[in-house]
Formats: sequence, structure tokens, C-alpha cells
Amino acid sequence: MSENRTVLSGMQPTGRLHLGNYEGALKNWVALQRDFDMHCCIVDWHALTSDFADTAGLPERIRQMAIDYLAAGLDPDKTAVFVQSHVKEHAELHLLFSMIIPIPWLERVPSYKDKAEELGLDSYGFLGYPLLQAADILIYKAGWVPVGQDQLPHIELTREVARRFNSLYGEVFPEPQAKLTTFPAVPGTDGRKMSKSYENEISLSHSEEETRARLKKMFTDPQKLRKGDPGRPEICPVYALHKIYTPGCESAIAPPCRTGELGCVDCKMRLADNLNAALRPLRERRAALERDTNAVDRALASGADRARAKASATMTEVRRAMHLAP
Ligand code: TRP
Repeated sequence: MSENRTVLSGMQPTGRLHLGNYEGALKNWVALQRDFDMHCCIVDWHALTSDFADTAGLPERIRQMAIDYLAAGLDPDKTAVFVQSHVKEHAELHLLFSMIIPIPWLERVPSYKDKAEELGLDSYGFLGYPLLQAADILIYKAGWVPVGQDQLPHIELTREVARRFNSLYGEVFPEPQAKLTTFPAVPGTDGRKMSKSYENEISLSHSEEETRARLKKMFTDPQKLRKGDPGRPEICPVYALHKIYTPGCESAIAPPCRTGELGCVDCKMRLADNLNAALRPLRERRAALERDTNAVDRALASGADRARAKASATMTEVRRAMHLAP
């Protein structure tokens, strides 16, 4: 299994990505493409499990996400960057899995009941969400799936699906493993987890001015009201971002914050300088890709071709194993 160098990961097409998505996932994918055979999928069918009513904005959300993937450094010559619905084989494998997996396995997935109630979701497709994810992964015979902690139950289910298929029809699928990476906490401007739904995000697509304006309003240590007051970097969300973007902040930022010598406004402006400088090359590539719609379309088309070649080879094996028409 450790010999398996195939990696698949996916994100729902939420549109423009923010720093949390970048630090938590995308940056890691870019690093992995040197040593692994990467497949980075924009899972548009998964988005329909909750957002089925509003689909008009979907193409643009997919395009914006693809731009961020490419601008961040995913290289379409190395990595298959593609849209799930461009590779119809995922749907066929999902259908076949739906025949062999007991409904209680899906009802037991921890996120299911919570989210079903919270979001009022009761569709067949929503129950099958993790089974579609299993199809995404297994159709490439991926050995590794880089995901966050919250996805572990889905990876465990994927392994169970592989075992059940193999025991019924013969060894076709390897059992993939989650690839957890540690990444820094990325608080949003209000100190909560960065998230579009909280409107506290700094996006890869924001201008430098917008980034600066958002950082200016960012929450800090509530006990530090003015310059001169002693601050507590360890509880300050601005400092959490310095830890990512300001090398040497332990000596350059934390001590003068603690003594009160460094005020929050100056501290934020230094962060804005460093953050903007770090993102500048990515943002320049992003702007170029925004202007060149064809380049994005071409990358997604070639990604889908690469992905489809593997997916269809797996489906040939699957149909043979199940005595279905080729
Ligand atoms: N469920 C994943 C998430 O919400 C998205 C996803 C769909 C995925 N298919 C996948 C992740 C396959 C990894 C592999 O983040």
C-alpha cells in the first residue's frame, strides 16, 4: 500500500478560495505533486447534495476555484485538475456501489444526521454523499487522500466499500488511507475560524487594498485598547496570522506587543505588508488566468482527459468483475 503513489482529493465548488482553504489544503496539494500522482477534483455533484436549487452560479464558482488551483501552482502537466461531472464514470461507480452498500452504513456516518437536521436535507443523494466520495477515490485506486480530520469517517467508509466490493467480486480496489497534515490555525477577521459564511475571510482574489482594509478591522486582544496597553499575542488572531506570514515574529512582533510598545494598527499594517507580499505572485498569476478563460478551460479539459483514461480503465475491470456488459 505504501507503494501506491496515487492521490485524490476534492473540494466542493464554493467559488473563490480564502486563506483557510489555501493554508489548510491547497498549499499541501501543490507540495504533494512533486512526489505523487495527484488528482484534484472539483466535486460539483457533491455541491448539489445541499445546493440543488440554485445551480445558475455553479459554472462561475467552478471556474473561480479552478483559477485559484492553477494560480496556487497546481501544474496541469503533472496533476489532473478536473471537474467531477466531466468524468461520468464517477456516477456509474456510485450507482454500482449503491447496490451493495447497506443503508445503515450511510445513516451511521456521523455528519449525516446532524447535517440532515441542521440543513433540512432529506434527499437520496444527500444520504449517498459519502458513497459518491468513495467512488471519487476508488475509481483512481488512490492510496492516499489528503483531507482534514472531519473527513476521517468518509475515508473509513471508503475502505469498507472497497472491502465489501472486493469480497463480493474479487480484488479490484486498494484500501486508501487519509493523509492528515498539520497546518496552522487560520482565524478570520473576527477571530472565528475563517469561513465565507461568516464573512470574515481574506481571499486569494482580494486586492492588496481590500486585504489591508479587512486586516485593519480585524479583532485583536480585547484587553489591548490602545497603543501602550500590554497585549497577549497568544490569544490574538492577528498574531496567529503573523505566525504564518511574518518570519521571526516571535522576536519582532510578540515582545513589543507584550510591552505595549507596538500598537495594534502598526501591527496589522506590518501583517498586511507581509501577507500581500507572500500572495503577490499567486495573485498575479490569478489575474492573468482571469483574463485568459481559454487557459482555464484547456487545463480542465486535459485534466478530465487524464482522469477519464484511468477512470474508464477501472470501470472496465469493475464491469468485468461484476459480469456486466463492457
Ligand atoms: N467531502 C469532501 C469535503 O467536504 C469533498 C470531497 C468529495 C472529497 N469527494 C472527495 C474529498 C474525495 C476527498 C476525496 O471536503
